[in-house]
Amino acid sequence: MSLELRRITKTFGSFTANDEINLRVETGQIHAILGENGAGKSTLMNIVYGLLKADSGEILVDEKVIDISDPSDALRAGIGMVHQHFMLIPVFTVAENIVLGHEKTGKFGALDIETARSAIREVSKDFGFEVDPDAIVETLPVGIQQKVEIIRALIYEAKVLILDEPTAVLTPQETDELLKTMRELKAKGTSIIFITHKLREVREVADQITIIRRGKVVGAVSPQTSEGELASLMVGRTVDLAPEKHKHKIGEPILVAKDLTVRNALGAAVVKKVNFHVNAGEVLAVAGVQGNGQSELARALINLEDHIEGSILLSGEEIRGKSIYGSLHAGIAFIPESRELDGLVGSFSIAENLILDLHDQAPYTKGITLSAGVVLAEAEKKVKEFDIRLQSVSDAVSTLSGGNKQKVVIARELSRPVKVLVASQPTRGLDVGSIEFVHERILAERDAGRGVILFSTELDEVMALADRIAVMYRGEILDIVDSNVTREELGLLMAGVASKRVSA
Ligand SMILES: Nc1ncnc2c1ncn2[C@@H]1O[C@H](COP(=O)(O)OP(=O)(O)OP(=O)(O)O)[C@@H](O)[C@H]1O
Ligand SMILES: [Mg+2]
Repeated sequence: MSLELRRITKTFGSFTANDEINLRVETGQIHAILGENGAGKSTLMNIVYGLLKADSGEILVDEKVIDISDPSDALRAGIGMVHQHFMLIPVFTVAENIVLGHEKTGKFGALDIETARSAIREVSKDFGFEVDPDAIVETLPVGIQQKVEIIRALIYEAKVLILDEPTAVLTPQETDELLKTMRELKAKGTSIIFITHKLREVREVADQITIIRRGKVVGAVSPQTSEGELASLMVGRTVDLAPEKHKHKIGEPILVAKDLTVRNALGAAVVKKVNFHVNAGEVLAVAGVQGNGQSELARALINLEDHIEGSILLSGEEIRGKSIYGSLHAGIAFIPESRELDGLVGSFSIAENLILDLHDQAPYTKGITLSAGVVLAEAEKKVKEFDIRLQSVSDAVSTLSGGNKQKVVIARELSRPVKVLVASQPTRGLDVGSIEFVHERILAERDAGRGVILFSTELDEVMALADRIAVMYRGEILDIVDSNVTREELGLLMAGVASKRVSA
């Protein structure tokens, strides 16, 4: 099935998010859409999927103009979508989520739970997915949750599948699997629209690439285009893909974790008696395959986990057991892995989110009232400095594009006077230009004498920023190595094969 968009325009107030966009996706084509944060990619896809209504323009399926007013129209027309932020209901089972909202599919007829179960099994078998129809969604790793969304689209017989940044939350292995699935779907004639910020993936699977900047199509290029060229087409300037790290003197230990254990709600240890320290002026990266305790360890460092044992000394002061607020105020900046859950309050304005944990301090407050003028002026300053794309700092933060939300968290946390920065997947969802900027800022924190603990599943990021690298495996720190380690050695460690120990 082919899909064509003609002169699609969408405005929000005086802001034009999509400006006369033309796009044609051929049958069985993988069509990548590249563009910086806030370029208008998700907006365009939400229009195709019926979640937003375009101001003007046409959508054609197999050369015929169709009207899409809501997602069930889209599904009926054969268009399925996997969203940037999943739309599953966490407390429902996989099968319940798939039945929900849409009663009828072509091949499987009316969907009840029983048919959904067998449909899930059938589709899973076709693609070699391992998905239990009766599993509760919130207990599943993100990679599997995403497969649930793909399975849903397939059960509804999507002929055009929209994937909005599907790889942002996946491990490299899961990403490879997804790329493989995409090729299989393509071989069966499915057309795919693929949105990602990772240029390597685009070059690997795409047949055609369209580049959007500030709501306009600015280029259509082939996947042979080099990464550097793609990057500069996207952001309109050359991007340095490898940041420069200056040699400098590393200071004394500033944060020391001793026998730190984190338990989950069932009492099982997910982080097991780990010991490490970070020095002032140093980046300690914590690497590992997702799901080996890194997320919990990061959260534990600001007491965001419920069951923590052991000790966390910040400049010699015990902070384990403090409140989250107390930990932040003791001198830790925290960029959480999940900006939606731990980083932002969606209904608050962008300006308010930029001062979330400072709101009770001068100069923002006088007595018990927030000083609105100062809050707004400070917000404008940060928006400029961090190049956050928005219409007004008074808008709810939930109106921002994914990458711009992330920039709000980063802007806030990098503006506080702290001793240690704990950054968990800090560049997830950011475009290449913003990644370059955030990497420079993280190194600036290091150069200013702060300790940085970087949790990242991106090997490139770890290699580019780290002075030392701790590798986690099954809740333990298997080894801490110097940054001159090779990728191969690091890969082995991440797979659980221990090597020589350098320093703890
Ligand atoms: N409901 C809304 N109200 C106001 N502005 C909006 C709304 N939805 C989107 N926007 C604005 O439209 C612009 C495009 O957003 P969109 O989510 O399409 O970007 P994107 O290209 O998907 O970016 P990212 O790579 O960060 O996900 C952004 O500046 C965003 O703030
Ligand atoms: Mg988006």
